[in-house]
Amino acid sequence: MSHESEYLTFALGKGRLANKTLEMLEQIGITCEEMKDKSSRKLIFVNEEQKMRFFLAKGPDVPTYVEYGVADIGVVGKDTILEEQRRAYEVLDLGFGKCRMCVCGPKEAKELLQHHERIRVASKYPNIAKDYFYNKKFQTVDIIKLSGSVELGPIVGLADVIVDIVETGSTLHENGLEVLEEVCPLSARMIVNQVSMKMKSERIRELIMKLRELEL
Ligand code: PRP
Repeated sequence: MSHESEYLTFALGKGRLANKTLEMLEQIGITCEEMKDKSSRKLIFVNEEQKMRFFLAKGPDVPTYVEYGVADIGVVGKDTILEEQRRAYEVLDLGFGKCRMCVCGPKEAKELLQHHERIRVASKYPNIAKDYFYNKKFQTVDIIKLSGSVELGPIVGLADVIVDIVETGSTLHENGLEVLEEVCPLSARMIVNQVSMKMKSERIRELIMKLRELEL
């Protein structure tokens, strides 16, 4: 377990989020040269001088690594934090990866949302969808979990609406769908293991302070 170790361990969601995170860490003097090699398939990287370790995980697994304490710190989208419901402290809004979680569908579906009808909702985020419809709108719906390309749902008749991430809106537009309601704003967040926050508080607090000064 990493709590006792001298390293500060980061779990990063593979892809764009990890790249943005490394750029940000570089601005406060934390580097990991070997991680910049885009062709590399390695998953774990160590900076011996700075006693930092980084590993690349699938986004939805980042909160899992942090909850179990094998990573002290995770960087992940708010969507994943809400969906995975893992125990960890959310300490910082990193300000990048800004987008919105929305209920989307064809224009005609707007009415279905106003009359509390029992509709079918497709989503990669069944927990977020369930929380929104049951606890915020008090609307009983059937949730259908999909793994991606969720926009297909309403087009082919699998679902009435979807709950999905909207960034530029072009995926919706190109598929004849639109935003019907906003669930919540999203962005990249830093999360910290609850034990690490106590055991490595000095290093973690310093890191958070430096990142705050970047005016994220
Ligand atoms: C995400 C999301 C939308 C799209 C939104 O999908 O699920 O489909 O991006 O972006 P836009 O508003 O800028 O068009 P992603 O590319 O992650 O792939 P997925 O469909 O497999 O989830």
